[in-house]
Amino acid sequence: MNDVRQPGSEYFASLFGGAPEGLWSAPGRVNLIGEHTDYNDGFAFPIAIDKRTTVAARARADRLLRVASISFPGVVEASLDGLDPDSLTGWAAYPLGVAWAMTQAAAGDGAASRLAGMDLALTSDVPAGAGLSSSAAVECAVALALNDLWELGLDRQELARIGQLAENRVVGAPTGIMDQSASLLGEPDHGILLDCQSLLTESVALGFASAGVGLLVIDTRTSHSHADGGYASRRRSCEDGARLLGVGSLRALGPDDLPRAAALLDGQTYRRVRHIITENQRVLDTVAALRTSGAAAIGPFLNESHLSMRDDFEISTPELDLAVSSAQELGAIGARMTGGGFGGAALALVRNDDAARVSAGIARTFARAGYTAPHVFPVAASGGARRDL
Ligand code: GLA
Repeated sequence: MNDVRQPGSEYFASLFGGAPEGLWSAPGRVNLIGEHTDYNDGFAFPIAIDKRTTVAARARADRLLRVASISFPGVVEASLDGLDPDSLTGWAAYPLGVAWAMTQAAAGDGAASRLAGMDLALTSDVPAGAGLSSSAAVECAVALALNDLWELGLDRQELARIGQLAENRVVGAPTGIMDQSASLLGEPDHGILLDCQSLLTESVALGFASAGVGLLVIDTRTSHSHADGGYASRRRSCEDGARLLGVGSLRALGPDDLPRAAALLDGQTYRRVRHIITENQRVLDTVAALRTSGAAAIGPFLNESHLSMRDDFEISTPELDLAVSSAQELGAIGARMTGGGFGGAALALVRNDDAARVSAGIARTFARAGYTAPHVFPVAASGGARRDL
């Protein structure tokens, strides 16, 4: 499934002629637990998944950037000299936004004027709009390719920040660092524990195979966009809560601070803050349970996380709630919506023997409710961004 080399090279040749200089790929991610915690300096625990975006790339003799995606018609052209973050639109804003962010990083080293133009051809099997960070997969694959071909020598944390900057500034989504970190730092069979304050990361063995369990993604096929109001308004509530409680970020608070928060904040802001405080704790509890008791023990934290997002952070939808409750009723070890919310996907941790039955059962429940048929598929923790060829 990961081997998209041939299609990537063929697609490149069909557009630009000849062979690319190389192929780079980066995965989408699914967040096991720790939602909306990243921009609150908190903890998150995502995995890189076995669905990837590949970019075939070749440097040019001039300063032209040409980008194409197999998912969209046409080739988009821009000059390296005229990249304006405010005027990039559509799908090409992601790769070109990364190129812009990298020219900013290179400008600091005085290298920007020496950078070569580039032909870039993108192929992907990361579902778009499902909350699996198809955009981070594009950003990280392109960032890694440009970093190599432009010989900028940026490390993976710097590349993650470049992807995030492209997303924030060019795409206009005020997102955190989780998606790009997962895509760049993922390892097979491991989750990545992110401390978004210190930016320290740790790979934690999931032990899913030995426990006989796996993850199902339930893409509700209801769309979400973090450039819309919901995500930004949640972020503002968290910032308001931190300010009113006299801390730089909600990371500074723990469960013991909840009574003071309840006394000081209005009901809605309090619930937003309570989600972040309890979610940070659930990330740490999940990692501790994985280490001491194994994968089958983390179900309650996933289930509680979903309730917190549904009732306190209010980012779930009827489709996501139904995906989670039906997975739970069908015997999943745990389930929760995953990603930014307002649509997209849920995940369920299931025993391997139950996976087919749970998938079929969820499809039946959705049909009975009159909802669009969900796309239910297994994902495995896989390696992060890499050069493939
Ligand atoms: C989106 C953002 C991430 C993170 C999640 C919620 O995926 O891109 O930075 O905030 O939502 O956890």
